[in-house]
Amino acid sequence: MQDTYVFYQGKIVKESEVQISIRSKAFNYGLGCFEGIRAYWDEEAQQLYVFRLKEHFERLQESCKALYMNLPYTVEELCQWTVELLRKNNFKTTVYIRPVAFKGSDHLFPTLFDDDNRVLIYCQPMGKFAGKDAFRAAISSWRRISDTMLPPRTKATAAYLNSALASLEALQNGYDEAILLTKDGYVCEGPGENIFLVKKGKLVTPSPADDILEGITRDTVMTLAKEELGMEVVERSVGRTELYSAQEVFFSGTAMEVTAVVEVDNRKIADGQSGEVCKKIKELFFDVALGKNPKYAHYCTPVYEK
Ligand SMILES: Cc1ncc(COP(=O)(O)O)c(C=O)c1O
Repeated sequence: MQDTYVFYQGKIVKESEVQISIRSKAFNYGLGCFEGIRAYWDEEAQQLYVFRLKEHFERLQESCKALYMNLPYTVEELCQWTVELLRKNNFKTTVYIRPVAFKGSDHLFPTLFDDDNRVLIYCQPMGKFAGKDAFRAAISSWRRISDTMLPPRTKATAAYLNSALASLEALQNGYDEAILLTKDGYVCEGPGENIFLVKKGKLVTPSPADDILEGITRDTVMTLAKEELGMEVVERSVGRTELYSAQEVFFSGTAMEVTAVVEVDNRKIADGQSGEVCKKIKELFFDVALGKNPKYAHYCTPVYEK
């Protein structure tokens, strides 16, 4: 990996200069939370647009609050540092940005009650993460952690062991991705993405009370469906077998973007092809993310001064 510039403890430095103790509580116990943000490169405009930057740092702030971590910068400062970091790296490609807030102290016990709150931001080029246009998914035997155990809405680093176990199982069983159910057996989300169904012409997605991470792409998809496609959007609990009879199923997420699910548990969804709603939302999404739709220009933060 190239020695890129990163943000650490209030400064932009080379990644190779960052030193974090092997005793850090973030490393030993996963005491931290993070964000995943994309910046889209528009070749035509020679511009890099960060997608919904402010909303990502607002979510990080909320995560830190819930986890009793003091975020030592404001949302505005973090947005400015991110833009400066991207400029410093001079990226001319689509990039994934990873801010991490964590407990840096090397005190032995997993207590959140200390003042060593650190923030790290690194970025790397990232093209299409999904690798394919249509996914075969399976319900995981691992249940999603719940808000009463390790709150999924906080994007806590430790929570991703739950995601990793589900992904591993799906891949080892020959599927592309897992779908996790809540502890009560309702459809929750993928290991790193939200899920949508088209049912009787309505767009349905699990509600925030069903232990999901409230995705920023999810919010974008709901907005585009309502505003641009005139669809009714319903947030409610979803039963497992509702997936099998859905007209369409698709995932949404920063890394995953908008990706069709054409099979669940070896049952084809409708005709087993990517559906029309998913296709339209995907098209609208990329238009918006690439700064081509003036109505949603406020979602895009340009990095380079023109
Ligand atoms: C568990 C989980 N659910 C959903 C999402 C999608 O959220 P977003 O659209 O904000 O990336 C992510 C990715 O951040 C995730 O890790």
